[in-house]
Amino acid sequence: MKTALFLAFLSLPYTISAHFIDDTVCSEMQAMCFDIGHGSSDEGTFRFVSPHNPGHGMETYLSRSSVMTGDKELGFMTRDERLAMKIDNQNPLYMLVEPLLEGVQRRLDGKEVLQILSIGLGAGSVDMYLKSLENRPNVTSVEIDPIMVKIAKNYFNVVEDDFYRIVVKDGIDVLKENSQENRQYDAVLVDACTGNIFDEVVCPAGAFLNKEAVDLLYGNLKKGGTLSIGVLLGQETGSGKTIVQFVKSLLIAFKNLCKTREIQGVQNLVGLWTRS
Ligand SMILES: *[C@@H]1O[C@H](CO)[C@@H](O)[C@H](O)[C@H]1NC(C)=O
Repeated sequence: MKTALFLAFLSLPYTISAHFIDDTVCSEMQAMCFDIGHGSSDEGTFRFVSPHNPGHGMETYLSRSSVMTGDKELGFMTRDERLAMKIDNQNPLYMLVEPLLEGVQRRLDGKEVLQILSIGLGAGSVDMYLKSLENRPNVTSVEIDPIMVKIAKNYFNVVEDDFYRIVVKDGIDVLKENSQENRQYDAVLVDACTGNIFDEVVCPAGAFLNKEAVDLLYGNLKKGGTLSIGVLLGQETGSGKTIVQFVKSLLIAFKNLCKTREIQGVQNLVGLWTRS
């Protein structure tokens, strides 16, 4: 199970003007490799992770973060120079992360420290966004694949501290443990994907698509807590009908449990539910 936000190239709302693959890292667990690269768009210059898929003819970003470029353009830099650029947390590319965090953002004014469970680290852009907030929440991030943690730390400046920790475990197991120990969160974010863009449903991973998982997610929420699930359908099956059916099945599972529910976006959907 891959864990990150997939952004299908076709659904990107901007134009890529430069594109370089500068490193490749392989995961035994997922039996696949990931490219670390750099690109420019009208939004700025960024570092990305994408599945290594030569000849595939289509770019799929798992995650992107802004970098500090100085004066040089990507094309005039060496590979080492590109990889040496620092992540720019002041200038986030959070367009598709924001819907996932809407439930959290609504509640940041309170005096209490929000407790957040974030399932699916990817390159850490969701978590680093939370870290950059003035009223910092306390985040436990769960990632099943140690290689993703390595990528996040080595290339995306993800650092653990008192308010931020990474647990390398299966998200479902963590939900079960929390439920046994009565641990509940103000927000649970599920941004966990399969890693295969040809799967019918890429995000969330199959493990989150059954009644037991839905009950666990619900049980991990405090009253008034919000659940956000990133949804992405595969390239082969992205028909409007499939999307509607799939989202409906998630909604039905939560129907009588939650007060509000919202779905945003078109290709990359985010479901947002609030526990009543
Ligand atoms: C943050 O979360 C951890 C793990 O749940 C907990 O041990 C710690 O007390 C929390 N800290 C704050 C300030 O809420």
